[in-house]
Amino acid sequence: MSLRDLDGQSAIVTGSSRGIGAAIARELAANGARLTLTGRDADALAGVAADVTRASGVAPAVIVADLRVRTAAAHVVAAARDAHGRLDILVNNAGATKRGDFLSLSDDDFEDGFALKFHAAVRMTRAAWPHLVEARGKVVNISGIGAMTPAMDFTIGGPVNSALLNFTKAMADRGLRDGVRVNAVNPGHIVTDRLRRRVEARAAEHALTYAEALEQARREHGIDRFGEPAEIAAVVAFLCSGRASYILGATIDADGGATKGL
Ligand SMILES: NC(=O)c1ccc[n+]([C@@H]2O[C@H](COP(=O)([O-])OP(=O)(O)OC[C@H]3O[C@@H](n4cnc5c(N)ncnc54)[C@H](OP(=O)(O)O)[C@@H]3O)[C@@H](O)[C@H]2O)c1
Repeated sequence: MSLRDLDGQSAIVTGSSRGIGAAIARELAANGARLTLTGRDADALAGVAADVTRASGVAPAVIVADLRVRTAAAHVVAAARDAHGRLDILVNNAGATKRGDFLSLSDDDFEDGFALKFHAAVRMTRAAWPHLVEARGKVVNISGIGAMTPAMDFTIGGPVNSALLNFTKAMADRGLRDGVRVNAVNPGHIVTDRLRRRVEARAAEHALTYAEALEQARREHGIDRFGEPAEIAAVVAFLCSGRASYILGATIDADGGATKGL
């Protein structure tokens, strides 16, 4: 993909303080987009903002917000519009669902998981939609392979991701009418803080070194390696570009072959 493909377009990436969201922000900036970054960790956001400014030559808007709070989405969208005068791209990436034995997970854990990854994505989409219609824009929802492959230790994340895919399809149909392209990406096992914490927990539980626990997890997942955040960011940048102009309502697995079923 040619760099500067997104020249001048304005993009919001939620959960852009680290991990996959930070990589998406850097990649969109390298393609010429003007960014709005958001998350709760102001220091981490400042670090990503410096990278984005270097990549695009334009300082991003940075909004520190907890997206579980109902009013936050409209605030983030308004800030993006104020900073860049338009809104072309929304990437709903923020997510943090608790994993573990089903009987150890509480109502609060379930509500929290849905509050951030599903309800915040819905609110962000609602607030952004009129601007996206005006710009003939794009939405990319970052779901996860657990949406299609349920697992007994992922009873929150799986249903949240499935709900987000259903919402993606519904909004893609609305987007067909309104001129907005809506798609989703299912990352597989990507090396971020989230995955590192899981491997550390596995190492502690089974008295393994980190490297041993990582290798055990790799074998169980049926993959030859873990993915990098930049490999998800590249798919998002493609979906936002003109080269994906006929892709609408699609879900792209970027999982190194982890998904074995159809
Ligand atoms: N890593 C994987 O293997 C993998 C696989 C499948 C799907 N995914 C999905 O990809 C997305 C990103 O995952 P990741 O691995 O990059 O996770 P991560 O490293 O834990 O980053 C999560 C991001 O979400 C933000 N966030 C968390 N709670 C928030 C809140 N209450 N309000 C606003 N922002 C909040 C975090 O920012 P602050 O901490 O600054 O708030 C951070 O920027 C998630 O939706 C995840 O479900 C990841």
